[in-house]
Amino acid sequence: MNQNTAPFWDALLAYASREVLPFHTPGHKLKAQAFTNLRSVLGEGLFSLDPSDEIENAELNHDFEQALHLAEQLAAELFGARQSLFLVNGTTGGIHYLLTPTTGTVLIPRFSHQAVYSAMVLAQGQAAYLPCAYDPQWLIPLPPSVTAVQQALEELQPQALVITHPTYYGSVSALDEVGRLTEKHGVLLFVDEAHGGHFHFSKDLPAPALSCGADAVVQSTHKTLGSLTQTSMLHSRNDSWFSKVVQAQRVLQTTSPSLIFYAVLDEVRRELALQGPALVNRALELAATCTSSLAAIKGVEVLPKHLQADPTKIVFSLRQLGLTGIEVERILRVDYNIQVELSDYYNVLALISIGDTASSITSLVQAVQDLAARRGHLGGTPLPRHTMDFPDLPPAALSLREGFFREKEEIPLHCAVGRISGAFLTPYPPGVPVIVPGEEFTADVVEHLLWCAEIGWPIRGLLAGQKVLALKDNGGRCRTVR
Ligand SMILES: Cc1ncc(COP(=O)(O)O)c(C=O)c1O
Repeated sequence: MNQNTAPFWDALLAYASREVLPFHTPGHKLKAQAFTNLRSVLGEGLFSLDPSDEIENAELNHDFEQALHLAEQLAAELFGARQSLFLVNGTTGGIHYLLTPTTGTVLIPRFSHQAVYSAMVLAQGQAAYLPCAYDPQWLIPLPPSVTAVQQALEELQPQALVITHPTYYGSVSALDEVGRLTEKHGVLLFVDEAHGGHFHFSKDLPAPALSCGADAVVQSTHKTLGSLTQTSMLHSRNDSWFSKVVQAQRVLQTTSPSLIFYAVLDEVRRELALQGPALVNRALELAATCTSSLAAIKGVEVLPKHLQADPTKIVFSLRQLGLTGIEVERILRVDYNIQVELSDYYNVLALISIGDTASSITSLVQAVQDLAARRGHLGGTPLPRHTMDFPDLPPAALSLREGFFREKEEIPLHCAVGRISGAFLTPYPPGVPVIVPGEEFTADVVEHLLWCAEIGWPIRGLLAGQKVLALKDNGGRCRTVR
């Protein structure tokens, strides 16, 4: 196929250039006459490219369905898939389409994005969890080891395994070995590659999941590759599962997808086919400069190489100077007008992408240099070492889906031991749920959550007055409540 073409982009531009008089949706009638501010900031061009898909007309060469199919085939060819889908509800949507058709056990690392959990609320399949391990020095969640995967595959004989590749912090599992194991056990391997779309374009990055035997992957093209926010791609190598995914997409996706989103995905794919390796290698060079410059600053530590498989995710810490990652994020924003991707107790993560320049890197390095020098003068003492004892996974009384939809009530957290949770309780960051709907509050879970609340660690799902949602009928089980 000719990768230097963008059939959907071209079809949309061709339609706009005809200036057809629209007596159809959308209500802005491709001009947004009534909205002066919108027109002046976004430009009329944006509206002219935003017809609904009702205008399909093969005779006039506006067969958008055909153009989309071609554009998706080009994407599949580029990324080494058999089929691809353009997604307008992000990787979240793609993960939902992948997992909704499951009917058996789906093995998921506890450190999975909420999209994986919400997919398992929709699915008939049942989630089983691989517990999360943490690096003790950096307190970042680690991807599951091959041994952990192997044991779980043997014990649970799941229908599918979901792996996040890379994690938010840029770490990866030995995915080729995991792929060999899933193949041996006849288990579907689905990969949340939200943060790894760029892997395809450089040998200096971890291998992309499709090349490690994944049946299907979902990539947030918007996160690391530069399309518009909300636009992602699903790539598949498994024809029979793909036909289920397409059915799921039909029921779960809007019937009015943005044609601009599709066109942008198509045009981004065209550029990447031509320039992807050069753009990504340039980003890698910038990331290397940034990392070595940050590491050279007194008091700044950078995540060691064995944990940082993706060098474009620069994790650094000023803990030697007494600053938490959360404080560094706030100071960079307030004093230097710089916003990083995330922070936690020790760390800050700065994401470098094909959109960066030498000057953006210099600005970040200078800001950190200045901050470190200021802090050094004030004689910052190192942060106290945090050791975290994460509780074991609590027992599941009900499936995630059942727990999620049962009637709930608010109860104080300290009275929750023995009750069944109706919600996710997730200290954030890093976003690993301590308990999920359908699981029973153990004393360890309650104590850990109380401790997080006491030290001011934000807990998603914890309600005002330190209350939590528990099932009203406790899942049909009668338990003594402390
Ligand atoms: C690991 C991971 N998976 C999935 C998603 C969902 O991606 P999207 O925002 O494209 O829906 C995210 C978003 O942050 C993520 O970090």
